[in-house]
Amino acid sequence: MTTVIAGISGAIGAALAYRYLEARPDQVVIGLCRDPDQAPEDLMNHPGVRLLAWDAEDQRRLDDVELKAVVEESGPIVTVIYAAGLLHDDGMFPEKRLEDIAAVNMARAFAVNATGFGLLIQALLPWLRHREFKRIAAISAKVGSISDNGFGGWYAYRSSKAALNMLVRNLSIELPRRCKPMACVALHPGTTESPLSAPFSQSLTRLKVHRPLETADNLIRVLDALDDSSNGRFFSWDGSELPW
Ligand SMILES: NC(=O)c1ccc[n+]([C@@H]2O[C@H](COP(=O)([O-])OP(=O)(O)OC[C@H]3O[C@@H](n4cnc5c(N)ncnc54)[C@H](OP(=O)(O)O)[C@@H]3O)[C@@H](O)[C@H]2O)c1
Repeated sequence: MTTVIAGISGAIGAALAYRYLEARPDQVVIGLCRDPDQAPEDLMNHPGVRLLAWDAEDQRRLDDVELKAVVEESGPIVTVIYAAGLLHDDGMFPEKRLEDIAAVNMARAFAVNATGFGLLIQALLPWLRHREFKRIAAISAKVGSISDNGFGGWYAYRSSKAALNMLVRNLSIELPRRCKPMACVALHPGTTESPLSAPFSQSLTRLKVHRPLETADNLIRVLDALDDSSNGRFFSWDGSELPW
């Protein structure tokens, strides 16, 4: 059995990998990240982990020949978690107002936060057609909820996460016809200490901020509880349902 984690080099992706490797030592974890040599060393050296280079901003880097060889050796995929995400980096920062919107940042956010998920599931589809229950989860964000948006701002991140949510919903309609039994869901991980949230740590003091392993435990609890009826829904880290 195989678990695929895209964004295994991130705080939440790596914590999920640690928890899966601890709890299910018979499973292989295939981890996707931009530079496997920069992944946490204990994941790099773990016998149950296969790391593959993948950049969501460069479609050619999802090399299906390499992916095929790794998946064929590791066995049927039962869990896919898309934990890659882009909120800021050297070239971009969340917009405060309309004038801050830049086409290049919108395109980058959509590539990493939304399109990458669709293309990953497209690439993995041949290995999702088996009889075991499959969990397909996109780590989204509450700020991607359209109906919950009362603050505005963060145009690229919010709209790309809303697009991710729509991909989840679309896949939840198409995939059951092609690889039942399965559930495809969006998950809000809760505010978590990570490079992505670091610039906002001061404004987060009034929120509950989780450590990455806590977040992984919360998300795995939600993932373990999924069944066919969960398909196409948006869940928060505590198992409560969020509005699209
Ligand atoms: N932390 C929070 O409070 C919070 C709250 C709500 C939602 N989320 C969501 O949770 C997910 C994980 O975030 P995190 O907190 O763990 O952040 P993080 O530690 O910054 O991890 C971000 C991950 O995204 C990957 N990534 C960025 N650009 C990429 C690209 N072009 N191609 C492929 N991968 C790329 C990074 O890979 P590299 O190592 O290559 O940079 C890293 O693995 C994200 O989807 C985020 O939006 C987080």
